[in-house]
Amino acid sequence: MSAPINDFVKKYIQSDTVRFHMPGHKGCTFHGCEAYDITEIKGADYLYQAQGIIAESERRTAASFKTAKTLFSTEGSSQCIKTMLGIIKSVIGDKRLKIAAPRNVHKAFIDGCILLDADVVWLYPSEPTPGICCCDITPVQIENLLSQDKDIDCLYITSPDYLGNLADIKAIADISHRAGVPLAVDNAHGSYMAFLDDNTHPIALGADMCCDSAHKTLPCYTGGAYLHFSNKSPDSFLNNAKSIMSMFGSTSPSYLILQSLDLCGEMLASGEFAKKLAHSTAMVRSCKEKIEGYGWVLCGQEKMKITVCAAKCGYNGCELGDKLRETGIEPEYCDGEYVVFMAGISNTQNDFDKLAAAFKTLPVKPPIDEQIPGLLPAESRLSMRRAAFSHSQSVDIHSAVGRICALTVTGCQPSVPVTVSGEVVSENAVKLLEACGVEKINVL
Ligand SMILES: Cc1ncc(COP(=O)(O)O)c(C=O)c1O
Repeated sequence: MSAPINDFVKKYIQSDTVRFHMPGHKGCTFHGCEAYDITEIKGADYLYQAQGIIAESERRTAASFKTAKTLFSTEGSSQCIKTMLGIIKSVIGDKRLKIAAPRNVHKAFIDGCILLDADVVWLYPSEPTPGICCCDITPVQIENLLSQDKDIDCLYITSPDYLGNLADIKAIADISHRAGVPLAVDNAHGSYMAFLDDNTHPIALGADMCCDSAHKTLPCYTGGAYLHFSNKSPDSFLNNAKSIMSMFGSTSPSYLILQSLDLCGEMLASGEFAKKLAHSTAMVRSCKEKIEGYGWVLCGQEKMKITVCAAKCGYNGCELGDKLRETGIEPEYCDGEYVVFMAGISNTQNDFDKLAAAFKTLPVKPPIDEQIPGLLPAESRLSMRRAAFSHSQSVDIHSAVGRICALTVTGCQPSVPVTVSGEVVSENAVKLLEACGVEKINVL
C-alpha cells in the first residue's frame, strides 16, 4: 500500500533540491518537521483543484468511508461545516437560506450562517438538559417541523455531541428525505464510527453529507478533516464543493496535515485501523464498567468516549478534572456537570487502568443539588448577519438582559453558542454565561 502525498514529499526531501519557494524555513530544522512542510510546488497538486496526488489520496479515503466523494480539509470540521452550508446556498440560489437545527451546534455553524445570511429554525428538547452540550430532539419533533415549514432548505444535526450522545440519524434521514429536505451532519467527533463492526457513521445511516474531524478520533494532526458526500448526493452538491470550500480556507493549505491525512488513509484502507479500533472499544467498555462498578454515573452512547456525570456523583466537573490532573490524567472537557475523556487507538491498557484506578480512589458523594440551567428557546429580533455586523457595545452580562446579542457568545469549550447574534439576551442565558465564566457580551 502506498501513501501518494507522503511518497512525493519523501522523494522531494531525498532529491536535495534547493528550495527557492515558500515556506520561509526552506526545509531547515528549527522545530523538527520543517523538511516535510512544503507548499504547492510542481507535482504536489493543489488542494482546491486536486487532480494528482491529493485527488488520489482523497479517492482512497472515499473508498474506505464508502462515500461518493470525500474532500480533505486542513482547517478542521469548522471549514467543512461552512462548506456544507455554502453548498446548500449554491443549490437554492437567490432564495434566503433557511436551516433547521437542534440548538447544540458548533460555533462554525453560526459563523457560516452569518457569512451566508441564513435564517435558522432552532429545535429545543422538551426537557432541557443541564449545560449547552446536549440537545435531545426526537425524530417526531423533526417530522412535525418539516411537515409544518415547507420553506426549510436543509436539516442540520450535530451527532455525536460533546458528551457522546448519538442522534437517531437513520430515523432522521428517513424523515428528512420523505420531506424532500437534505440532511447535513456535524460528525466532527465520529469519524471512527465508519470502522466499527456496526458501521454507525452518518453516511452509512443515510446523511447526504457530513464533516468528520479526522484529528479528533483518528491518528491525524490537528486540523485534518473530511467532508463526505453520500452516494445519493445530487451532482449539484458535488460539482462545486471544492470551490465553495476554498472560499472558507487559506490558499496555503498545510502539507504536514495533508501528509497526516494521507498516512491515516493508508491505515484505514489496510484494515489496520478497524482492527485496532475493535481492541480499543473493548478496552473502553471494560474501563467504563470498572468506573461504574465504583459507583460513578456515566452517560453517552459513544464507544470511544467516557463521560462522567460529575455533579450526580457529588463533584463540580471542573474540580473533578483538577483532581484527575493531579494523578497525571488530562481530560478532554470539564464543566460544572460533566468530565469527558476521549480515547484513541493509541491509548494503552495501562492508560485505561490508570483512569479506572483514579476513580477507584475518589469517593462518590451525594449528588450536587444546584444544577446548571439548560438551553431554553430564545426570541430572535434580528437576522444573525445584521446583528453580528452592527455597531455594538461590550457590557457586563448582567446589564445585557433584554438587549439584542450582537456577537454570538459560546463557552470556550465546547464552542456551543449560549446566545446567538440577533437574539434577546434572557435571564437564563445570563445564568449559562456565568456558568461558562463569561463576564462581558457585545449587545446592540
Ligand atoms: C461538535 C463539533 N463540531 C465541529 C467542531 C469543529 O471542529 P474542528 O476543530 O475540526 O474545526 C468541533 C470542535 O471541537 C465540535 O466539537
